[in-house]
Amino acid sequence: MSRNIKRIAVYTSGGDAPGMNAALRAVVRTCAYHEIEVFGITGGYEGMMDGNMTKLETRDVGNIIQRGGTFLKTARSMRFMTEEGRKLAASALKKHKIEGLVALGGNGTFTGAEIFNKEHGFPVVGVPCTIDNDLYGTDYTIGFDTALNTAVEAVDRIRDTAESHDRLFFIEVMGRNSGYLALHTAIASGATLVLLPEKETTYDELANVLKTSAKRKKLFSLIIVAEGNTLGKTEEIAEELKSRVGAYDTRVAVIGHLQRGGSPSGADRLLASRLGSYAVEALLDGHKNVMVGIDNNMIKYTPLGIAIRNQKEINLDELRLAEILAL
Ligand code: F6P
Repeated sequence: MSRNIKRIAVYTSGGDAPGMNAALRAVVRTCAYHEIEVFGITGGYEGMMDGNMTKLETRDVGNIIQRGGTFLKTARSMRFMTEEGRKLAASALKKHKIEGLVALGGNGTFTGAEIFNKEHGFPVVGVPCTIDNDLYGTDYTIGFDTALNTAVEAVDRIRDTAESHDRLFFIEVMGRNSGYLALHTAIASGATLVLLPEKETTYDELANVLKTSAKRKKLFSLIIVAEGNTLGKTEEIAEELKSRVGAYDTRVAVIGHLQRGGSPSGADRLLASRLGSYAVEALLDGHKNVMVGIDNNMIKYTPLGIAIRNQKEINLDELRLAEILAL
């Protein structure tokens, strides 16, 4: 392992994800183990440009493995998208003698990191954190499992009242561009149908599924809707369906940001601990501009550009499974 790097910085950026704190803890403690200094940047790229960074010691990350959110705070920065902003960030990092970066976040975070490296040369290793699970190069992203469990628990509760009233519920889960969360929620909660960004569904198909369900004496139904599905806004879909399949009393529920908060699941804590630690060791091993991930239970380094630009496909077997089990 290279001993050239003596001081790194870590930050969280973009939408928060449960498990970010566990990953920060792993980063700080792995740095302590290898006797290198680590600075925590507060507020993502905004904090980097403003030079908001302080040295973190092992005790600073005590009692956070179980906490949702990120103690370093996060932001989506417009300023960092400008060359001027990135120059500010580079001079703040140089002032603090930072030699490498660990970036915790998703697509936007890694896009910023890649440009920043091209312009200013700071080696960066990304740790995939997003409830969307939409990053290529890792089976799962940190936060996905917790968000899934939150969504499934919410759907279970809606199921109780849907059954009591014989109602049709449209339940919106997060996922602007990715249907992973919606698809897994649908399978794990036994939903009738799922609407995804990755798969075109027509109103005719939707109406047919509901008519068939009614024929099979299914008195209530749960439809999981990904935010970015191809049909449009959940309220509008529900209205349109009402006019086509009058039989159901229809309601809409949006789970929204509830999915982003809460204590991380065991699986997310484990993934965060592994990836946070691997990211530091990757930097020390001389890796640059890669995302660390777990693929088939093996550590994998994916160039940031590939992780961002390659679309992680929906597993068609899982989609088929959702359809079979909804009969
Ligand atoms: O990217 C994660 C995510 O939770 C998406 O699923 C969702 O569309 C978006 O962030 C919401 O962002 P914001 O917190 O800015 O409303």
